[in-house]
Amino acid sequence: MFNRTRIQLTIRNAAVLSVILVALNLSVYWVMQQMLFAQVDRSLTGAEAQIGMQSFSASAATSPKQTIMLRMAKSDRPVYELFWTQDMQPIPAPGSEAFTKEQLSGPLLPSRFGDSPKTVKLGDQYYRALKVEPTALAMTRGDGITYVVSYQLTLSNVTAEIGMLARLRNILLLGGGVGLLVAVAAGFYLANRALIPIRLSMERQQQFVSDASHELRTPLSVIQAHAELLLRHPEHTIEQDSKHVSTVLQEARRMSKLVGGLLTLARSDAGRQELEIKPVMLDRVIQDCVHKLQMLAEVKNIIVQAETEPSIPIQADEERLHQLLTIVLDNAIKYTPEGGLVRVFCRKLPHSVQLEVEDTGIGIAPEHLPRIFDRFYRSDKARTRQEGGTGLGLAIAKWIVERHGGKIRVESKLSVGTQVKITLPA
Ligand SMILES: Nc1ncnc2c1ncn2[C@@H]1O[C@H](COP(=O)(O)OP(=O)(O)OP(=O)(O)O)[C@@H](O)[C@H]1O
Ligand SMILES: [Mg+2]
Repeated sequence: MFNRTRIQLTIRNAAVLSVILVALNLSVYWVMQQMLFAQVDRSLTGAEAQIGMQSFSASAATSPKQTIMLRMAKSDRPVYELFWTQDMQPIPAPGSEAFTKEQLSGPLLPSRFGDSPKTVKLGDQYYRALKVEPTALAMTRGDGITYVVSYQLTLSNVTAEIGMLARLRNILLLGGGVGLLVAVAAGFYLANRALIPIRLSMERQQQFVSDASHELRTPLSVIQAHAELLLRHPEHTIEQDSKHVSTVLQEARRMSKLVGGLLTLARSDAGRQELEIKPVMLDRVIQDCVHKLQMLAEVKNIIVQAETEPSIPIQADEERLHQLLTIVLDNAIKYTPEGGLVRVFCRKLPHSVQLEVEDTGIGIAPEHLPRIFDRFYRSDKARTRQEGGTGLGLAIAKWIVERHGGKIRVESKLSVGTQVKITLPA
């Protein structure tokens, strides 16, 4: 599935980059062509303007020699003047000998030209040509023949410019080809980069769903088995089968806790779990939680001590804070053998509040420490199952702390005890 998406993304990325590249190259070429030809075209029309003035001041039949000289003086590039009679006969004039008879009565015929300048290829040379209003009405050649001028072309040699444009086109084509390859490579790279977080998140979700179903299956099959055992002896009283009934209840409670935890994490993944931040007295929340779990500790003959500074105000979601402390304290009591000690410290720092829960319990082996915040991770599955553990507690605790902008870490020594250190912004 990812392969197809990757190919699609690559094609799309490369297509966008290629379109940008082609557009850029085309506009560079177009601008360059316009700039070069604008200069040439100016020299064609500029020459015309100057001669026009001259021919008015002189007689109608201006000598062609004088005309050519003036044009050369006006523009810095040679401009050729060519004349035709009414019946399209080329009139010999200075400059017209540069062109053959075939060219003058073929590709250069004025009837082939419109109002705007046109590029023509003559042999291996390129010319820019413009049809203009004749600047002389009649011309007399050296041998005395007089021609009436009906059409006139001005021409300029643009072979150098065309050569330059051809070189530019080659460079742009080569650059475009290389750019296209780079675009495909870049498209592939970008597609890969874009897919990494999606793939990771999908894998995490899949893992989460499969772990969750697995965790839900166990209590369900236990409930089913015990219910079937109950059905085997319909004549038994509840008291007689209380073992099965209490197991069913216990597993049902476990499932309900599991579903609650799953829901919290699923909502937090979707970013739909909002916090209700308001001023909270942390010391009071700690006292509440310790009080609530005191019974649990007493059953195991564990002493729970809270050493907190008085009145520690923080900005937090009170209910989530309660949940966090319950998770951590519950672990401390659950994983501490009878007669142990659990202590809670809380103190204010300049910009934060530090909360510590310390126990004299079984501890966590170093190889398990890095993974205890993972969902469903339990260092001793069999044992924690007996204790009713789902393995979601610390994952939820971590989410709560991080949503409050804090940090949580655990230090532990096997058979000595565990310290959970939480820092929350004040
Ligand atoms: N104070 C502690 N002492 C020793 N081991 C601990 C302690 N706290 C956590 N652990 C280990 O980390 C694991 C993960 O803890 P977590 O609270 O996430 O799950 P749980 O306690 O098994 O289940 P739940 O909290 O959902 O009932 C535990 O299974 C346990 O092995
Ligand atoms: Mg726990």
